[in-house]
Formats: sequence, C-alpha cells, structure tokens
Amino acid sequence: MKNTSELTIDLMGRDDLPEILAIERESFPSPWTAGMFIKELESSHSVCLTARININGKSVIGAYIIFWLVADEAHLHNLAVKKEYRRQRIAYGLMEVMKEIAVKNEITVQTLEVRKSNIEAIKLYQKCGFVVEGIRPLYYADTHEDALIMWADVNPVRK
Ligand SMILES: CC(C)(COP(=O)(O)OP(=O)(O)OC[C@H]1O[C@@H](n2cnc3c(N)ncnc32)[C@H](O)[C@@H]1OP(=O)(O)O)[C@@H](O)C(=O)NCCC(=O)NCCS
Repeated sequence: MKNTSELTIDLMGRDDLPEILAIERESFPSPWTAGMFIKELESSHSVCLTARININGKSVIGAYIIFWLVADEAHLHNLAVKKEYRRQRIAYGLMEVMKEIAVKNEITVQTLEVRKSNIEAIKLYQKCGFVVEGIRPLYYADTHEDALIMWADVNPVRK
C-alpha cells in the first residue's frame, strides 16, 4: 500500500494476528482478543493497517492501527507499536496515514479516546494536532480510569 525504505504500510489480514496479539499483550492492561480483531477485519467501516519493518531481509510487524470511517468522522480504535521499535516515529507515521485516508474519504474530523494516564500517547496525539475536548468519567472498566476525548480537524486550520 505505502512504502518507505524502512517501513511498509499494508492492510491487516488474519495471518497477521499472532504477531499483532503479541504486540497487543505487551502494550495494554486489557488487551483485545483475537475475536475483537477479527470483528474489525470483517467490518466495512473499519480500516486495519500494519506497519512492517524489514529486519535482515525478514518482514516483521512493528505496529498497527485500526480506525473507523463513519459519516464525517475518522475514529481511532487501536494503535500500538512493538516495544523495541518505539520512539522511531512509527506511530506518528501511522497517524499521518490515517489522516491521508480521511482526506481521500472527504472526512472532516478525527477523534479518539485515551487513558488520562497515558502520557506518551497524549503527547503523540497532541503532536498530530489533537486537542482535549472532553472527559468520559470511569470509561475504562479495568481500572475505572477516565478517558480524555480528543479531536483534530483533518484540515489543520481549526474553525
Ligand atoms: C503511544 C505509542 C503508540 C507511541 O508510539 P511511537 O512509535 O513510540 O511514537 P513516535 O515515535 O511516533 O512518537 C511521536 C511523538 O509522540 C510523542 N511520544 C511518543 N512516545 C513518547 C514517550 N515515551 N515520551 C514522551 N513523548 C512521546 C513525542 O511527541 C514524539 O515526538 P518526538 O519523536 O518528536 O519526540 C507507543 O508508546 C505504544 O504503542 N504504547 C502502548 C499502546 C498505547 O498506549 N497506544 C495508544 C492507545 S490510545
């Protein structure tokens, strides 16, 4: 789908799930199950992408992103980078791809929820132009943590 010398962005498939589940488990306190990923792969409004890295001639999944395109919104549902490949702008690159796909689909806004304590992710989203516009109290059932609701216009000039 999209290539750089080091990274290949491609559509996620069922064969990718073992690698993705390993990244998911090291990334989240309540990781998604295989069934949850399969539901996304089968959903017509869900876009599921992987970022592959070439390591000594072998292609490995370094990260993935899942977002929905519904009405005029792109809604981020999942994003994770394998621990050993973090801080190399891979997540930023995937957020840029989400924006490019949103533009192609005439989407005007992007939104997401993020744990209030997930400072790394909040910084990433701020770098991508998102701002906090609300709070969902006790949104996360596992830790009873609040979610911050963040929004960004696809056109970076806010009205
Ligand atoms: C959050 C996450 C996706 C970031 O992935 P990443 O590829 O390491 O992020 P990037 O390298 O693209 O970082 C882009 C920007 O985000 C911010 N950022 C990312 N990680 C950060 C960290 N550990 N500390 C501070 N800022 C950070 C920085 O502003 C960074 O820009 P910089 O490179 O100019 O400093 C990754 O840490 C991860 O997978 N975390 C676990 C899963 C998760 O929390 N997902 C988000 C759910 S809402």
